Amino acid sequence: MNILYIFAHPEPKSFNSAMRETAIKTLEDNSNNVRVSDLYSMGFKAVLDQDDFLQRKNTDIFNPFLEQMTAGKEGTFSEDIITEMEKIKWADFLIFQFPIFFTGMPAIMKGWIDRVFAAGFAFSPVKQRVYENGLLKGKKVMMVISTGAEEEWYSADGKHGDINELLKYITHCTFEYVGMDVHDTHFVFGAGKMSAERVNEELKRYVQRLDSIFTQ
Ligand SMILES: Cc1cc2nc3c(=O)[nH]c(=O)nc-3n(C[C@H](O)[C@H](O)[C@H](O)COP(=O)(O)O)c2cc1C
Repeated sequence: MNILYIFAHPEPKSFNSAMRETAIKTLEDNSNNVRVSDLYSMGFKAVLDQDDFLQRKNTDIFNPFLEQMTAGKEGTFSEDIITEMEKIKWADFLIFQFPIFFTGMPAIMKGWIDRVFAAGFAFSPVKQRVYENGLLKGKKVMMVISTGAEEEWYSADGKHGDINELLKYITHCTFEYVGMDVHDTHFVFGAGKMSAERVNEELKRYVQRLDSIFTQ
């Protein structure tokens, strides 16, 4: 299987980076092809703006939606966006791994979605190419998330609330919106201060999860 691993953590010595290394080795050992978008190390531009387009459809007013629709048809997205779109076309399975920041993705990864899941590429209002007809239909996706808070904070009656409900703006309104098949998120709760022993246990648990993702 072709797997695109999209990763956002600014520190190569972090727990998240150890998880990413474990994942790449495990997936490759299981005969998958893996490509990685390591967003911080790539210095990926996190904001959608005028520089995303080599040519403008409308130079009077910047309408991101209109410019995305046009750039897809005319091949005028900036090079960094085209590179990421090619990786998505190649991939059967996308894995997004990140530490939770204010109950969402780090901004650099949100920016990757804003810029790369472009109108006309990932979804289109024309003929309602969303949800069951989304343009990324047939691809699978999974998030891998570490949290500083303990699991009870993210339970239904915890201080933050049910984390799967909170993340529906990603799992449903983003991933299912573009047509993808969403696998259950893999969480590591209370990851801010773990003993070396717990780190090893979590890496083992992640290997077990990865070994089974294709049968889920
Ligand atoms: C800007 C920022 C925002 C954060 N927001 C949250 C949050 O909303 N919920 C939470 O549980 N942890 C939050 N954290 C904690 C991180 O998720 C946690 O430190 C990380 O998952 C640990 O993984 P690491 O050791 O690989 O960095 C935040 C950390 C930072 C730096």
